[in-house]
Amino acid sequence: MNKSFNVSLLPGDGIGKEISAEASKVLEWFNQNSELKINLKEELVGGASIDKYGVPLTDETLKSISNCDAILLGAVGGPKWENLNFEKRPERGLLKIRKELDLFANFRPAIVFDALASSSTLKTEVIKNLDILIIRELTSGIYFGEPRGISQIDQNNKRGFNTLAYTTEEIKRIAEVAFEAADTRSKKLCSVDKANVLESTELWREVVTDVSKGYPDVKLSHMYVDNASMQLVRNPKQFDVIVTTNMFGDILSDCASMLTGSLGMLPSASIGAKKNNKCNAMYEPVHGSAPDIAGQGIANPLAMILSIAMMFKYSFLNLEYFNLINKVVNKILNNGYRTKDIFMEKNNLISTQEMGNLVIEELENEKI
Ligand code: IPM
Ligand code: MG
Repeated sequence: MNKSFNVSLLPGDGIGKEISAEASKVLEWFNQNSELKINLKEELVGGASIDKYGVPLTDETLKSISNCDAILLGAVGGPKWENLNFEKRPERGLLKIRKELDLFANFRPAIVFDALASSSTLKTEVIKNLDILIIRELTSGIYFGEPRGISQIDQNNKRGFNTLAYTTEEIKRIAEVAFEAADTRSKKLCSVDKANVLESTELWREVVTDVSKGYPDVKLSHMYVDNASMQLVRNPKQFDVIVTTNMFGDILSDCASMLTGSLGMLPSASIGAKKNNKCNAMYEPVHGSAPDIAGQGIANPLAMILSIAMMFKYSFLNLEYFNLINKVVNKILNNGYRTKDIFMEKNNLISTQEMGNLVIEELENEKI
């Protein structure tokens, strides 16, 4: 099995930089202490790239990251760049990576860590042991549909428009990924759409149902997105794997992440088909660049570190180290150490750096 990997680290903006520094330490630890050889190359994206090059992602950076085995991204965006015109904004850098590398399958787990069950705003019994996986289509739908724009109707009236469209092929490939994932879990898949109103998702439902015939062991259900958002808050444990469109997935995954009470803990993976040897995977925390707390050393690096774990699992096919990182994180939480975002009375409050150091310390304690 391949043990040598090129990884592009894109810290981005805000707390992205601070949590990336901790992620680097963890990767370096694996370099020194395991058979993995991880060749890390840092690149600019988002506001950091705008400041230096005037664009959120340069062609050179895109080319460079296309040639690596996996991308690890911190977060992009911040008030400094909010007034830039649409094409220049930090978020466009992220969307461009997704689209250009065709990272169509976005895995967003929402897991409640035992030690954090009481930090949710929902009753503990509703969310304890929650472990759901939202699979969001990431490179099509209303985010990318054409035509799009803002046109002038008359002097005082404009029209803003976007297009929600899905092809059979696009739905089929994300559905297959979702059925495969459901097959390895509790064999329950809920497809979320708005088939009662939107033709694009009427087709979505039709194609997902078709694909289900190849997975007789997986129990498929369908739900309208408005109902799904309500059910997620009412009784989230009825779900295991959810598959949905780009836009619905954006919204539902934020909702699901807050069920866990710890947005700062959640990693994600965006994966595409391996084509022409191009990079097909990007890993990033679900949280954003949090400009309000950036630079203070209080951000939680665990979502970023758990994103490394996902990289080990999905890109390096190394379940052992995936489990190892998860074990270490659980242990740290069980021992009461918390960054400010997940701090509760009687916990030990620690900084971003101290959390990174603790992860290293606990890795040292595990014999690998
Ligand atoms: C996300 C974010 C992005 C999205 C933004 C930053 C473009 O909200 O990854 O969920 O809307 O996809
Ligand atoms: Mg979002």
